[in-house]
Amino acid sequence: MSADYHPIGVFDSGYGGLTVLKEFVSQLPDYDFLYLGDNARTPYGTRSFDVVYEYTLQAVKELFARGCHLVILACNTASAKALRSIQQRDLPVIAPDKRVLGVIRPSIEYASKKTKNGHIGLLATLGTVASNSYPIELEKWSGGRVARTTQQACPMWVPIVENNEIGTVGADYFIQKDIERLFKNDRDIDTLILGCTHYPLLIDSIRQYLPNPEVEIVEQGKIVASSLIDYLSRHPEIDSVCTKQGTVNYLTTEQVELFELRARQFMDQHVNAQKIHL
Ligand code: DGL
Repeated sequence: MSADYHPIGVFDSGYGGLTVLKEFVSQLPDYDFLYLGDNARTPYGTRSFDVVYEYTLQAVKELFARGCHLVILACNTASAKALRSIQQRDLPVIAPDKRVLGVIRPSIEYASKKTKNGHIGLLATLGTVASNSYPIELEKWSGGRVARTTQQACPMWVPIVENNEIGTVGADYFIQKDIERLFKNDRDIDTLILGCTHYPLLIDSIRQYLPNPEVEIVEQGKIVASSLIDYLSRHPEIDSVCTKQGTVNYLTTEQVELFELRARQFMDQHVNAQKIHL
């Protein structure tokens, strides 16, 4: 590892964060990125608060040790359950000059602007829903524009993506069921947040089961990328340490061959990964 390598770290429990990484690379092509997928321990969505925090902190420390000064938790579950503790408790002790950001706040700001009637729907993992992070943050940051937030946990969706079952009859059964439950609880939802970075891969099926094609779907990749550009422009002290050779490197805690195969599908190009142990 070169002393002059300071990529932006991008972390997810598995492959889902690649939907965010892809937008980062497209909108910030000059920057170096280092992706870490904890594929060996995915999914995080069904794990307890303490375990998600412990795993996420290990990943952040690993990315710091590999030169990152800025790490994006491209995982809603990690953002919901670990981000605040890491920012407030750990960073001041382990790395006061480094930063860790999440994906929830940018998504909330975007959804609050998009909704016309103030009815927001959230599809997310069990962990993100149980944390109540979205309703709490929407209440705090929407400037009174959000009247109601309705959440639906979709515990089968991450395994569907991780196991490449996208578009199968079995996958669509669960997608339809969860969407129907969400809209049964609030038929007036006009803005639907896909609060898990894996879900954009299921977008065709999701669209198919919406009760109304006018519902605005909030996908996080582009939104989080725009928010990162804005952050870097407001924080030159962080931006100036990020190296800009346009490289993208990949780390996984699982088998390299499998990761490379799946990552290629996400990134539309061959990817070389390295296996690490957290
Ligand atoms: N991509 C993660 C998220 O955004 C998936 C969580 C999981 O591993 O269950 O929540």
